[in-house]
Order: sequence, then C-alpha cells, then structure tokens
Amino acid sequence: VWLSPRTSETAEIDAAVQLLLKLKVDYKQMTGQDYKAGCPPSENLIVSNNGPAADDCDGEDLVDPWNVSASSTKGVDYDKLIVRFGSSKIDKELLERIEKVSGQRAHHFLRRGIFFSHRDMHQILDAYEKHKSFYLYTGRGPSSEAMHVGHLIPFIFTKWLQDVFDIPLVIQMTDDEKYLWKDLTLEECHRFTVENAKDIIACGFDVNKTFIFSDLDYMGASPQFYRNVVKVQKHVTFNQVKGIFGFTDSDCIGKISFPAIQAAPSFSSSFPQIFGGKKDVPCLIPCAIDQDPYFRMTRDVAPRIGLLKPALLHSTFFPALQGAQTKMSASDPNSSIFLTDTPKQIKNKVNKHAFSGGKDTVEEHRKYGGNTEVDVSFLYLTFFLEDDEKLEKIKEDYTSGALLTGELKKILIETLQPMIAQHQERRKQVTDEMVQQFMTPRPLNFKF
Ligand code: TRP
Repeated sequence: VWLSPRTSETAEIDAAVQLLLKLKVDYKQMTGQDYKAGCPPSENLIVSNNGPAADDCDGEDLVDPWNVSASSTKGVDYDKLIVRFGSSKIDKELLERIEKVSGQRAHHFLRRGIFFSHRDMHQILDAYEKHKSFYLYTGRGPSSEAMHVGHLIPFIFTKWLQDVFDIPLVIQMTDDEKYLWKDLTLEECHRFTVENAKDIIACGFDVNKTFIFSDLDYMGASPQFYRNVVKVQKHVTFNQVKGIFGFTDSDCIGKISFPAIQAAPSFSSSFPQIFGGKKDVPCLIPCAIDQDPYFRMTRDVAPRIGLLKPALLHSTFFPALQGAQTKMSASDPNSSIFLTDTPKQIKNKVNKHAFSGGKDTVEEHRKYGGNTEVDVSFLYLTFFLEDDEKLEKIKEDYTSGALLTGELKKILIETLQPMIAQHQERRKQVTDEMVQQFMTPRPLNFKF
C-alpha cells in the first residue's frame, strides 16, 4: 500500500532531475561554459565545447590552447593577460636591447606590440652577449591542409629571429596532438604534417639551420627525445595538468600526457644530432600566447629534472575577419584568408566579411571618422604593411574620416594579394625531397 506514493514521488524527482540535467546541457551549448549557480554568463561569450570553463563570472577573456574569446569588441585585453599569466611586457627597454644585441632594427611585429609579452628574454640576451648561443623552438598542430595567414605569424617572426641571431631552429609538428583531439586518422594527421611543412618551408627557413619534425616519426626515432618526455611525465601530476589545462576524468589518457611531448623540444638534450648531447643550450620559444600553459608547465618541471627553463616571446592573436573577439578558425572558410585563396577570393572576403570600424553612412563617416581599434582591415594592415609612415597616414586619415572603409579595404586587398601570390609561388618550389631534407634528423650548421 505505501509503495505507490513512493514510486510516484521517485518518478517525479527523476523527471525533475532529468529536466535540470537537460537545462545544464542546453546552457553549456549556448554559452560554452559549465553551469554554475549564481554565475550568469558574460555577454559576448563565444560558443566553445572544449577545454576548461572560465572559472569566474566577471566577463574575463578566455585564453587557453583550445579556446580564445574576448569579452570586448577590441579583442583580448593583453595587459590583463600579462598580469594573469605572470609574464612580462616587452617594453621599450627590451626592444632597444634586442636591437643593440642583434644589430638590427626590431621587426615590425615587435615595434607594433604584436609580440607583446615574454619570459626571461633578458637572460637569453645576456648569454648571447657573452657569446653563448641559444636555439629557437616553435611548432604547429597540423589539423588540416588549409593554413590561413594567421598561422604564418609565428613563422614569419621566427624566420626573422633565425636570420638576425644566426641560430638553429626546431619546429615540432604535433600530428599526435591533432589525432588525440580531433576526429582524424593517424594517416590524415601525418599527411597534414607534410603539407603544412611545405607552407612553413615557403617562409624561407634555412635548411642548414632548421629541423622540422613530426611527433609521430621523431618520438619513435629518438631515444633522447623520449627520455625527456618520460622525465617530464614523472614530475607532473594529473592534478597539475587538470589545473593548467582543465582536463577531466573523461579525457583520454593521451591528452593528459600530451603536454610532456610539447615540453620535450624545450630541452637541447632532445636533439643529440644537433647539440651533440649538450644539455645546457638555452631555448627561446616564439609562440602565440595561447600556448603559454604548456610552457608554464615546462618551466615548472625543468629545474626539477635538472634542465634549463625555456624563454618565451608571446604574440597576440590574429583576428578573424568578423572581429577581434576571437582568433581565426580553420574550419570556417569565411573567417580567414587562406594561403590557397585566389586574388578574387581575397577581394570578396575582405569586402564582404572584414568587420568595419567605419560609420554607417558616408556623411557620418566624413563627420566623425572611423575607429581603427576595431576595424579588422586596419588591424590586418598592422600585421602586413611594413611601412610605418604609410600605416600612420592611413590611421590618421581613417580616424579623421578622410579615408572611407571601401578605400581602406582596397589598400588591404592590394597588400594581401601579392603577398599570398608570392607565398603560393614559393610553396610551388618546395619539392618532396626538400621536405624530406628538412625532416631528416641531422647535424645543423652553426657556431657556438
Ligand atoms: N600545440 C601547437 C598547436 O596546436 C603546436 C606546437 C607545438 C607549438 N609546439 C609548439 C606552437 C611550440 C608554438 C611553440 O598549434
């Protein structure tokens, strides 16, 4: 007799629980964040379904290796990020030192704050001044054949560093990472490594000073590399990577141990063919700031395994055509300019999709002027128009209203078209044999 009320009560509670769970799932789909009682979603949150949820509710920017979203149309607040990540700003003094030590004018990415943050760059320069050399390490996760202009930023800059300091460079292609994170086969990921390597080589790296490697190949071929991976694995706990990367109990164990693989190239002993077994050649990593979590972990373990902490130079993100709130996505063809785009595609994309900081009508624009801080065409020019004076003039004219959005877009189109065409020309010259050469473990040419 007393069974029936309990049964109906249980059913009611079950139904209510199911409804709550469904609402939580809906909430996560719509905001990209886990539901937390009393913590409303921030206004401009971009939908995402991977990585850790933002753990505060004051509309802070979300930046980690899998998500980038800003709460303001001006994009990520990079000064705040420096404070949050505990890195240092690239200030005037450091710029001057880089110029003094390298004997070259600083690259426009440095002058314009595109590379804006660093860790231990002064130590690298101190050592270099005392004729102690260093090496460069950067990388790319080959998630598709299609690379866009934003992907070139770290490579263009790394090439400049290689030239002015005359030092060796290792480039990690994390095909293993993409296999673990994406719905791709191992064969596809490896093929993307080779295809992307061609675009990277087309940036002009010196084959005598550059080693490009696929994790899937090099991990098995290099006992010293794997030994460093294992050392890192032994000294980082699940709790630590959970804290740094937001992994959960349901992430596969491949993801959980992957950070050790991205850490290993930071140590010169991972490349005996290049450094002859030396453990103490300092490493400098140019990368976008979203990769910093990997290297915070690396710098944390390094002294505990008797190795040097790598130094870092961090870049801002390359904005999507739709605006600086997020970085470009290789999966949305209209969010970016691809390295394979034709002049016509470039023209159409910029005209149709580049977010404008101009006013709605010509009259208003002439009267009040445009806003270069949010105008994507202008932002792109800060990346690719090297002439400082021209850029300054464009800024003045756009802000005053003398230059219209259509005219600004035209300048960008005419800057991008030859740049992309030249890239395509250089890429065509890259043969399979050249890729093979870059990717063969071998001694590199440099003096220490
Ligand atoms: N994880 C990076 C990506 O997905 C690739 C990468 C590996 C990398 N090692 C790096 C990037 C070092 C910068 C520096 O693109």
